[in-house]
Amino acid sequence: MGETLFKKLEGVQAIVFDAYGTLFDTDGPIRKQASAFGDKLDAANALWTAKQNEYAWVRSLTGVHADYWTVMREALDFTLECLGISEAGLADEVMSAVLKLEPHDGVVAALEALKAKGRRLALLSNGSPSMLDAMLRNAGIDKMFEHAISVEDVGIYKPSRRAYRLAMQKFGIQDAPSICFVSSSGWDAQSAAQFGFQAVRVKRAPTPADRLPGKPAVEIESLGQLLEVL
Ligand code: LAC
Repeated sequence: MGETLFKKLEGVQAIVFDAYGTLFDTDGPIRKQASAFGDKLDAANALWTAKQNEYAWVRSLTGVHADYWTVMREALDFTLECLGISEAGLADEVMSAVLKLEPHDGVVAALEALKAKGRRLALLSNGSPSMLDAMLRNAGIDKMFEHAISVEDVGIYKPSRRAYRLAMQKFGIQDAPSICFVSSSGWDAQSAAQFGFQAVRVKRAPTPADRLPGKPAVEIESLGQLLEVL
């Protein structure tokens, strides 16, 4: 049984968000093609996400980097073949929707409230700079962030410590606990906590803690609850 993690965070100088799944609804592109996926829609989203992570991590371990656009496309091609879905132009349609992901409910309001409180905000994502730029501008929230940090700057994916360190470098912050890192992915929130950030896990659905190092300081169910801990 997991205990509930909830407390006021002290000494936070900047708030850094994961992008895919945390701020943006990554199931949207496949959902938009519901007729092509039929009853395999949920399986496709689950497999696509799992394969994106696997491919990113294998590339990080083998040192054969490719940007996240390539990783996502290769993971999608695998997913379509694995589920036996072939339709001309489908993968291209899904990928173009990746540049126009919609923010999860409550995200824009939460970001606006944090900005109104004078908080410094950034993204730290495995996505490439052009993917992040397109997505933020399309959602109309590009001005909210002081930095949209891509791991492309170091050529290795989260949860590498080199990727998390980028956030400290961009803000010129010397001590990791001064950064509050927010992610809906267990592996990301836990690894960020292990790195030294004050980590917040956004748990939109009840899932157990991953059996990995690192423990988030706080767990919330929606981004709006961030206001209660900061
Ligand atoms: C990201 C993915 C890992 O935005 O969620 O970095």
